[in-house]
Amino acid sequence: MQPKVIIHGGAGSSLQGKGGLEAVRTSLHKIVQAVYEVLTQGGSATDAVILGCQLLEDEPRFNAGTGSVLQSDGQIRMSASLMDGTKQRFSGAINVSRIKNPIELAKFLQNESDRVLSDYGAAELVRELQFPVHNPLTDLRLNEWLQDRKDNVKRDMANVVAEEEAGRGTIGVVALDQNGQIAAGTSTGGKGFERIGRVSDSAMPAGNYATTKAGVSCTGIGEDIIEECLAAKIVIRVTDGLSLAQAMERSIQESVQNKRDLGAISIDATGAIAWGKSCEVLLAAYHNGTAINDTLECNPTDLVGNG
Ligand code: GLY
Repeated sequence: MQPKVIIHGGAGSSLQGKGGLEAVRTSLHKIVQAVYEVLTQGGSATDAVILGCQLLEDEPRFNAGTGSVLQSDGQIRMSASLMDGTKQRFSGAINVSRIKNPIELAKFLQNESDRVLSDYGAAELVRELQFPVHNPLTDLRLNEWLQDRKDNVKRDMANVVAEEEAGRGTIGVVALDQNGQIAAGTSTGGKGFERIGRVSDSAMPAGNYATTKAGVSCTGIGEDIIEECLAAKIVIRVTDGLSLAQAMERSIQESVQNKRDLGAISIDATGAIAWGKSCEVLLAAYHNGTAINDTLECNPTDLVGNG
């Protein structure tokens, strides 16, 4: 089977905060190429997704791993999940700190009986696995937070609302391998400025889901994605007989009607690639077996597209 891959580095209203069009394009295309090579060399969809998530987490312009946004108390807490579509197995870590690649925790948890761990338990596992301590903070993120604090000294920390751009940042990868197997992975620093203990969609099946039929990774405001149950909904629509393009379009139309702020990338078992968004920009790139392409210059009003 011809392998396929699609990745994203979040969504929003402009590319400016991420370094501009060319910088984002270079970064996404390089990562798509690296992930695609794993697939052409016979690597599994799961291996490809893990590598793609690691590379995106290591790219400071995206809100996951290094470059994650800070929460209301100035701390970084990251969440990530991995779903192996063949085993229909979901694993994830919620609000974990001081590691380089949260997706590594999701990878480890794939083979455990307890497969989704949150803050205290995730920290214990990090220690148990002896992952090196890593501070994912970048100067840019610290300055964003300091600026916000300076401008909002009177705001109550627990009631701080999410910043518009930071809130949509996430990374994700969906891959189809030579054996026709699908996997999806998603990782995030969260909305930014959120209340301590807030849980992202990125480590829930609402934000990251895969079966033998299709895989989806979402980005956008986590609460919106959870309330649409977007990733699982798209996959189930494919299972029930819609084409991937139809499933994406119907689900995004509903999101627009419900005034949601989100985006999604997907691949199905036939090799179809589809993406959708209710916001202006989706930072996605894909390899369709022939060439690399991206969504960076698509019309802000376009809701869906195919790869
Ligand atoms: N979609 C990322 C978040 O809201 O946490």
